[in-house]
Amino acid sequence: MNHASKCILSSKCTLANSESCNAHCGHFIALHGLNGISGRVAGVNTPKDYRLVTASNSPARAEQAEVYRAVDAYIKTFERQFDVEGAGGASTRVKSLYLFSGNPGTGKTTTASALLNEWLIAHYVGSIKRGLQPLQQPAYFVDVNAFQTDYNLATMTNDDAGMVAIKATIKRAQQAPFAVLDDIGVRSASEAFRAYIHAIINYRTTNGLPTIYTSNLPIEDMAQVFDERLYDRMRDMCLEISFVGESKRGRR
Ligand SMILES: Nc1ncnc2c1ncn2[C@@H]1O[C@H](COP(=O)(O)OP(=O)(O)OP(=O)(O)O)[C@@H](O)[C@H]1O
Ligand SMILES: [Mg+2]
Repeated sequence: MNHASKCILSSKCTLANSESCNAHCGHFIALHGLNGISGRVAGVNTPKDYRLVTASNSPARAEQAEVYRAVDAYIKTFERQFDVEGAGGASTRVKSLYLFSGNPGTGKTTTASALLNEWLIAHYVGSIKRGLQPLQQPAYFVDVNAFQTDYNLATMTNDDAGMVAIKATIKRAQQAPFAVLDDIGVRSASEAFRAYIHAIINYRTTNGLPTIYTSNLPIEDMAQVFDERLYDRMRDMCLEISFVGESKRGRR
């Protein structure tokens, strides 16, 4: 059975739609696993609905034309992940992006997922081309709201195993070569939870790791959500992109 419509690599793959395009393809398995649960695509933790979203097939693309011009240019910089450390200084680093809209449902999470998948594709294809073993988890998606719910549950129930999982998530989010922090406008977060998100962002900015933030709050508000110092670091090497229009939720 042809797997092109199920495979994140299909737009880049010369075998797409050929007879070899099937569930036994080694690259398909590397990305999507044997059962759709394991594999790198599931491993980076993108929400289920957005697993196969890329910049070219993103439903937000048509409406957010300006945004996607910037997105297309940004994706071209993903090849820099293979540059030798420090070769060109900060100018060759991959920047961070802050995806903002005051209105909900404008395509921020969709676009962040597309960017994460594009990074995964660039990492996988780029590694194979260079004869390198692609990382098992080259990127990581954090749904900050879901993470906060998990955190609240673990603390409320004194769940030690739950807290171990929370700590593991923090570590992965800190160290991933590329990360999405989806919905960081956590106005209602407790002081303790906010400190965790602070620790993640602080680690990533200090180490020059690119991050896609999405938020319903303008980036300036991060000075209050976190503090001036972190806000200053977030703005460094970061492009703010505004999404326009009303909510498109439920319009599929
Ligand atoms: N421009 C668009 N055209 C068509 N559908 C869209 C567009 N933008 C988003 N959608 C769809 O609307 C739904 C919500 O999109 P998404 O989750 O990306 O919004 P969001 O900006 O992250 O919202 P929130 O601020 O609530 O987190 C998704 O199902 C998505 O596919
Ligand atoms: Mg969202």
